[in-house]
Amino acid sequence: MTIDIRPLTPEFAGEVSGVDLTHPLTSAEVATLEAGMDRFAVLVYHRQAVTDEQQKAFSLNFGALEQIEGGNVTQAKDQRLGAFMADVSNLDVNHKPLARDDRRRMFNLGNQLWHSDSSFRAIPAKYSILSGRITVDNGGRTEFADMRAAYDALDAATKAEIEDLICEHSLLYSRGTLGFTDLSDGERAMFKPVRQRLVRTHPVTGRKSLYLASHIGSIIGWPVPEARAFIRDLTEHATQPQFLYKHVWKQYDMVMWDNRSTMHRVTRFDDTQVRDMRRTTVAGDSVTVEQLAA
Ligand code: OGA
Ligand code: MN
Repeated sequence: MTIDIRPLTPEFAGEVSGVDLTHPLTSAEVATLEAGMDRFAVLVYHRQAVTDEQQKAFSLNFGALEQIEGGNVTQAKDQRLGAFMADVSNLDVNHKPLARDDRRRMFNLGNQLWHSDSSFRAIPAKYSILSGRITVDNGGRTEFADMRAAYDALDAATKAEIEDLICEHSLLYSRGTLGFTDLSDGERAMFKPVRQRLVRTHPVTGRKSLYLASHIGSIIGWPVPEARAFIRDLTEHATQPQFLYKHVWKQYDMVMWDNRSTMHRVTRFDDTQVRDMRRTTVAGDSVTVEQLAA
């Protein structure tokens, strides 16, 4: 089989054919996919009925896996999946949709806000790899924004103004925006804000991108309301239709994205239906800015 990548929009998101993710890949195949990620930032694969172990093995081609701790309010005893897999479903440990007012569900609704995975960690994620094991027919799309194109489209004055800005990211801020503030002291400590540059440079392509997420709560040195208004403005800019790819899921689609140069969100769907989505996350290898001492 030969891998082919077809652009889904002229510059952003590609559809991959000619690869079977249930089997080990050759190093040449991995190199082709990495190059595809550097170019398209989002890659879509169809008909990949992987097991959790196969998804893990595929993900390890691109680096070490990020562990899920610190990213959720779900306790270990309630976890449906292994520690290397983020449960992005709407299900409890018995495979039943969570009740409407279950705090795990309410917390997970934060995925409907534009974000980049693990920007709330000191070393944020490289790739996310999301497998649609059971998908829904109405809503539940995943939308992606090309933060390289969004950066390129800024005017020169804005680029100069933001070049060295540093933001604080935390799950406290994204969940707070939705009015979810019911957190224990332990959870608050776990979600302590981290610092990230607002402008990132991709380590392979050298392209700059806007590093935005709903996890941002402040810009260092700025009054908070001014920072939040500005971040909101930049987010509106970055999520205009010309920068987007919207993925409509079919069962066993696999979508992988580069968190260093994209944002994403899931759209609303009927949460009484089973939506079983499983994510592996390839860890990043560096901070974007020095962190404060703990
Ligand atoms: C994720 C995520 C959106 C979705 O996996 O990181 O935000 O479509 N998922 O479930
Ligand atoms: Mn996400």
